[in-house]
Amino acid sequence: MEVIIRPTAEHASRLTAQIIHDAVRANPDIVLGLATGRSMLRVYAALVELGAGEGADYARVHTFNLDEYIGLAPDDPRSYHHYMNEHFFRHLNIDLAHTHIPDGTAEDFVAESSKYETSITDCGGIDLQVLGIGASGHIGFNEPLSAMRSRTREKALTPQTIEQNSQYFGGAEHVPKRAITMGVGTILDARRCVLLATGARKASIIAKAVEGPVTSMISATALQLHAKCTVIVDEDAAAELEQQDYYHWLFENEPEWEAYRNTPGL
Ligand code: GLP
Repeated sequence: MEVIIRPTAEHASRLTAQIIHDAVRANPDIVLGLATGRSMLRVYAALVELGAGEGADYARVHTFNLDEYIGLAPDDPRSYHHYMNEHFFRHLNIDLAHTHIPDGTAEDFVAESSKYETSITDCGGIDLQVLGIGASGHIGFNEPLSAMRSRTREKALTPQTIEQNSQYFGGAEHVPKRAITMGVGTILDARRCVLLATGARKASIIAKAVEGPVTSMISATALQLHAKCTVIVDEDAAAELEQQDYYHWLFENEPEWEAYRNTPGL
């Protein structure tokens, strides 16, 4: 795992977008794993901007989203299907037939989950998985005690997660109580992971996820076991990390980051 600290949420989001954009340009057949949530809004906006400006071609890109609420139809404005179309897919030359999001209205979630896993395998696996982190430490909707080897499945949401996402539903009582999500094991199978967290409300969980012990109580700690995972945070989300000086040093000195540290705005 490596940690990159950028001055603001805008810098951190633009850096995340630039990494995705560069990955698409390097491999037009890339399989992307995508995330939702407030943190990702800036990333999608920056990607759309980059796509228009420097012409990344998404025609052959395949995408797999992490999760969807159970009970929400794709055209429900609160669904992650709607979020992805609204903020990302409709702005780029992405083939909607290449986009995959778990079906929150499936009749049989065991069958839907296994179909989702098969689709990922049939596409050759996920090359780059983008992640946010929830207040409970979840990645996707892998709530505390999700098995480190879990695969796509139905999952109950914690009261904390329901509260965190209640603003989109006009109150916690209207938030779906369950979701279908890629498992921790599904996420760990991606060839590269990039997790973005911004804002002071993420500082405590980021410190636990990055510098704490690996535990299924905080699913994001599983990323410490991943061979190539980059955690990108702004100063606010980095505030409780003990090794901030080291992470700053890495960004300034590692050859991999040279092009990025010399790009204004990242
Ligand atoms: C939801 C999603 C997660 C996401 C989290 C963070 O719970 N299932 O994948 O990481 O939100 O959301 P935000 O970026 O709004 O803090």
